[in-house]
Amino acid sequence: MQLILLGLPGAGKGTQAQLLAQRQGLLHISTGDMFRQAAAEGTDLGKRAQEYMSRGELVPDEVTIGMLLDRIQRPDAAAGIMLDGFPRTIPQAEALDAALANQNRAIDAVLYIKVPEDLLMARLTGRWSCPNCGAIYHELTSPPAAKGKCDRCGADLTQRADDRPDTVRARLDTNRTWTEALADYYEKQGKLHAVDGAGEPDQVTARLTAEIDAVSAAGEKA
Ligand code: AP5
Ligand code: MG
Ligand code: ZN
Repeated sequence: MQLILLGLPGAGKGTQAQLLAQRQGLLHISTGDMFRQAAAEGTDLGKRAQEYMSRGELVPDEVTIGMLLDRIQRPDAAAGIMLDGFPRTIPQAEALDAALANQNRAIDAVLYIKVPEDLLMARLTGRWSCPNCGAIYHELTSPPAAKGKCDRCGADLTQRADDRPDTVRARLDTNRTWTEALADYYEKQGKLHAVDGAGEPDQVTARLTAEIDAVSAAGEKA
């Protein structure tokens, strides 16, 4: 399967993708994580991306599309992918459709995680994540067992530079419009599945799982 998780910053894409990709046997690809890793490594691409990320803006398509298409053509992506944070523009979506078609693949479903915007600021400003293994925590709603340490690998947790309140506001402003535009794009293809992203993380996982199972059952019948 090739799945996309769509949703505003803090909707829970990363949290859910980590669980669902494992359940479905898919490769989890987050373009945000790829850019943050490139920035930590100090590559030219990383430095360029960092400028935009620190302002809460989108990294330009000419950087983002090439990076993502390269990633999905590697052997470990052949069994299926779960995209988190890509596409974010119509040109990105069109490039993705064309590249998958070339490999005789297609997007099976787009899961749109919808969360009322007033919940997102608190989710993001309280987020901590593991720079080593990528585990995601929240200081109030899903804290690690030992303060500041990753449960999975013991590394020191960090906060993202773009999770400061002013940058979060800029990110929400940037993302609101394109998220709706992409929802329309996939709705027209009959692939959009909106899921309520409020409530406990495992309730959201159950809703997403039900959608994925329905899509996969329909695919087997066809
Ligand atoms: P990216 O890293 O993708 O950031 P984002 O879209 O802003 O989304 P987040 O990662 O902040 O949120 P999430 O939905 O993953 O939520 P999470 O699960 O962590 O992109 C960063 C930047 O990179 C962009 O701004 C842009 O500059 C650039 N970029 C990336 N892709 C690009 C592209 N395609 N084109 C151009 N530019 C691109 O959860 C958030 C918090 O909430 C956590 O603390 C978590 O514990 C908590 N939480 C999760 N679920 C729940 C729940 N059900 N209840 C309570 N708390 C919850
Ligand atoms: Mg994320
Ligand atoms: Zn870790």
